[in-house]
Amino acid sequence: MSPDFARLPGFRDFVPEDLRVRSHVFDAWRAVARRYGFREYDAPPLEPLDLYVEKSGEEIVGQLYAFEDKGGRQVSMRPEMTPSLARVLGERSRGMSKPIRWFAIPQLFRYERQQRGRLREHFQWNVDIVGEADEAADAEICAVAIDGLRLLGLTAGDIHARVSDRRLLTAILTALGLDEAGRASAFQIIDKIERTPREKTLERLREECGFSEEHAEQLVEVVEAGSIEQVRERFGAHPEIAEALEPMTRYLSVLDAMGLSEFVTFDLRIVRGLAYYTGIVFEVFDRKGEFRAVCGGGRYDRLLELVGGEPLPAVGFGMGDVVLTELLRERGKLPDTSPTLDYFLVSVGDETRELVFELAHRLRERGRSVAYALRPQAVRKQFKAAENEGAAEVVVLGPEEVARGVAMVRDMRSGTEREVALPALGES
Ligand code: HAM
Repeated sequence: MSPDFARLPGFRDFVPEDLRVRSHVFDAWRAVARRYGFREYDAPPLEPLDLYVEKSGEEIVGQLYAFEDKGGRQVSMRPEMTPSLARVLGERSRGMSKPIRWFAIPQLFRYERQQRGRLREHFQWNVDIVGEADEAADAEICAVAIDGLRLLGLTAGDIHARVSDRRLLTAILTALGLDEAGRASAFQIIDKIERTPREKTLERLREECGFSEEHAEQLVEVVEAGSIEQVRERFGAHPEIAEALEPMTRYLSVLDAMGLSEFVTFDLRIVRGLAYYTGIVFEVFDRKGEFRAVCGGGRYDRLLELVGGEPLPAVGFGMGDVVLTELLRERGKLPDTSPTLDYFLVSVGDETRELVFELAHRLRERGRSVAYALRPQAVRKQFKAAENEGAAEVVVLGPEEVARGVAMVRDMRSGTEREVALPALGES
């Protein structure tokens, strides 16, 4: 039987066109992170399995690429970056000035059921602020995510951040009479509310959380209402809920002051699947709701302590490249991926071939991109190659011109030709 060398399902090859797109996205991510004063870090792609168990939540743990290494250690490919960040800072945050603003672009691995927008590896822009509990940090994080998408050409007509607060939802569920176990079930039901028929949601709320029919209705109504005013109107009389509304109100007003409110929608249906979130959470979606979330994040004030470090508040997000690239493609926002070259050097006959090598090297020393036929070829073929390589200009080295110390330069776009003195090539 011949071995099967096919690419594993859910993994990607990046041929140059794909890598060009990836770099375009990474460049925007890096540029925006730097605008906000974040510094880039990285950590190992393989971590101790324990780093994820319990901390990331059941869903991710079920998707781990985990195994025993040759030293008998239980290890896992990283499915997300946040536990690694918590570990790195757990080891060294004490001596560092706060807040810590760090970002990373790790490749992550999850054994997912393959579907649109979900692969078994993806790159994820992680941006986190550690050591600041004020809502201004939450707002800053949301603004970075929005600006990353704006720099890639998306507008408030294309995307919005749907924001919620787990503390607020907890206060509402408590006011409706749920204990901790009931709240945990309710969180899971609300997390799935958009993909579940209303009747089914109501039934689950009654059966799994012990809600009365009236309370189940009330909850679904307020969760789906989509406005902070409605929550205030209906539940504002409960002191815990009034208190839990405050951080969200301040958060929204910071984003408003930044001029970003058109990108932000209050939405209690956003719960987030990961276990460690403790406060404001958000997910960015395309407005038409065609794709899965482009980005998700929120506040996780207890994770660092859980990983054995200093108890520090933290907030951040992860933005994946898979959904984002699909969305950019759909909106016609991908960069041109055809090859480009400053010069292609053409030698007419063998006599000028030496000069091609010399000139190519000189131009490359000046930072120009240059290619030429690697074996003697007819001029017509060389021009064809120049076209394929996307050369802006073709430098033709004919014996007669070279004898006069010049070359013929053709601008490939306009088709115009001019003579240039050999020493002046690549100077402009
Ligand atoms: P997450 O929601 O699991 O959060 O992932 C964030 C984003 O990564 C998703 O919205 C999605 O775009 C992308 N993503 C996740 N899984 C896949 C997959 N299998 N294939 C393609 N794209 C995927 C986290 O991972 C948190 N650690 C983010 C965070 C950072 N929270 C605080 N700081």
